[in-house]
Amino acid sequence: MITATSLKKNFGDFSAVNGINLQVNKGECFGLLGPNGAGKSTFINMTYGTVKRSSGDLKIFGYDPDTNSREIKYRLGVVTQDNALDESLTVLENMQIYCAFIGVARADRKKRIEDLLEYMNLGHKRDALIQTLSGGMKRRLVFVRALLGNPELLILDEPTTGLDPAVRHLLWGKVRELHQTGTTIVLTTHYMHEAEVLCNRLVIMNHGLVAAEGSPQKMIKEHAPGYVGIFNIEDQNKIKSIIAGRDSYDFVEDTSGVYLRTQTLSDLTSFHSDHGLTPLQIRPSNLEDVFLKLTGKELSVDA
Ligand SMILES: Nc1ncnc2c1ncn2[C@@H]1O[C@H](COP(=O)(O)OP(=O)(O)OP(=O)(O)O)[C@@H](O)[C@H]1O
Ligand SMILES: [Mg+2]
Repeated sequence: MITATSLKKNFGDFSAVNGINLQVNKGECFGLLGPNGAGKSTFINMTYGTVKRSSGDLKIFGYDPDTNSREIKYRLGVVTQDNALDESLTVLENMQIYCAFIGVARADRKKRIEDLLEYMNLGHKRDALIQTLSGGMKRRLVFVRALLGNPELLILDEPTTGLDPAVRHLLWGKVRELHQTGTTIVLTTHYMHEAEVLCNRLVIMNHGLVAAEGSPQKMIKEHAPGYVGIFNIEDQNKIKSIIAGRDSYDFVEDTSGVYLRTQTLSDLTSFHSDHGLTPLQIRPSNLEDVFLKLTGKELSVDA
């Protein structure tokens, strides 16, 4: 569905996407993760032709988005990071303009729009001006817009940012349903739990490059196996001195607590019996630990 080969995008002398190779296969729910500024949206914008690549190769359904955007736009739905809705028009007007843009047959437009507005619980807002909608409603509407063409490939750039937990769950349900009925999905998110529950494969990008790739489970196993204990921040010096020189511990101090990852559960529970330190919480390590390890805070002992 998507093939990127040595794909680059420079803005002036800055490389936003620095020669990435990746492939998204039909039927996947593919996660594109990475810290702010990693190059995710730049990559997505290249897939539907709003940003032209500097070099390398990019194919969507086998077509080059720089020269064949017409062939692509009918089959691709995108939830852009910025909503890009016309604020001075109504919900229906915005959706009708988009239907015309992607070539939905005139006779099908009204029903398609009404059905999707109901699907995302926005039917009651059909005649409202965009500027009167809440941030979460606009996000849901951008999701509706992305589905108007019944796309084979759906690209979601932070679709749930700003959504309350109930609406986020609603959207996850829709994404799952679409995935199960054969839609290929590319998802960018900063919610690691969201990526873990929805994606069957993902990459973590950093500084315009792919830092790691695999299923969420494989990445956890490979980069951050074991368990994480969260300790009181006041205990950080004591913890540092206990684990100094022992490389079986990964350590992160945060303003809210000390995160300590160990290979086994007993390594964490023994902190209590051996040193009188009780973790506030113990959990299996997750994708957030992988993300921090690969892109963010150094998980090393500063002793
Ligand atoms: N039009 C532009 N002109 C100059 N620099 C740009 C432009 N668009 C993006 N960049 C730069 O490219 C880098 C990658 O930006 P991009 O929006 O792709 O990041 P991202 O991974 O989507 O981040 P976020 O998680 O914050 O959305 C950033 O340093 C950004 O400042
Ligand atoms: Mg972005």
